[in-house]
Amino acid sequence: MQRKFNRAGKSKVFGDSGYDENLASVYEKLTNMMGKVAEADETATFLERLSSGRTAFELGIGNGRVAVPLSECGVRVEGIDNSDCMLELLAKRTDLIKAWKGDIADFSLEERYDLVYCVHGTFTLLCGRAEQIACLRSAAKALDDEGALVIELRVPDLDGFVSCQKITTTLVDRENTILNAEVHDPLNQNLRSTLLWFSGTSVRRFPQHIRYVYHQELDTMAEYVGLKLVERWGDWGGGAFTDVSKRHISVYRRTTS
Ligand SMILES: C[S@@+](CC[C@H](N)C(=O)[O-])C[C@H]1O[C@@H](n2cnc3c(N)ncnc32)[C@H](O)[C@@H]1O
Repeated sequence: MQRKFNRAGKSKVFGDSGYDENLASVYEKLTNMMGKVAEADETATFLERLSSGRTAFELGIGNGRVAVPLSECGVRVEGIDNSDCMLELLAKRTDLIKAWKGDIADFSLEERYDLVYCVHGTFTLLCGRAEQIACLRSAAKALDDEGALVIELRVPDLDGFVSCQKITTTLVDRENTILNAEVHDPLNQNLRSTLLWFSGTSVRRFPQHIRYVYHQELDTMAEYVGLKLVERWGDWGGGAFTDVSKRHISVYRRTTS
């Protein structure tokens, strides 16, 4: 991801999200180690309920971690992603899911869906507030009158930063050491990070850039484009969202048809 700055110091995001061949080649392994593959079936069960078993559209569909089990529940799933490499991974897994290249910050669809969803923090890969609002606006337009938009986001974790920098140990086992080095830009609510994966004699780097949002800002942006919050959970199993939750799953519906 690259940024351009104008005279007012405001930045415009352009380019792709870093899901290149390097990251795509280890995506499954990485998500498995982070426990995200193990929870995919539970995620699909949650989403099936909101799609009423009919149609769903995923923003940033990736390798189909969630889309594949959701389609196995009988839901017709489609989606977009801006990474050719991730779309190739999905195509290798299934030909039941129609997915194409597109930008979640700016898309329009011919069809309307019972469910539009964006999971695993993908929404925050849009690094500007304008892009995030544009995403919500496009998603609202893609919803059927009774449709639901589901967004899964991590609660921003800004503890432990010293001089806007933090290094976290993400995983250590006999074969792997994974560290995450982050730099915080509080004015833009941006976090730039690099995941450093040491394994054997190799080290791989996976840079990422996000704009974090708290749940209340997400609600305000959603309201701005004609969506209202109808449910909020702390996990896919229906656990409550509390002051110690590490993430939230927020469900919105249209306020107008
Ligand atoms: C964290 S991964 C999630 C993938 C999948 N949804 C999952 O849950 O495993 C983020 C995905 O969003 C895609 N992505 C990031 N920014 C995007 C954008 N602006 N437009 C479309 N896809 C994007 C990436 O290529 C990647 O496949």
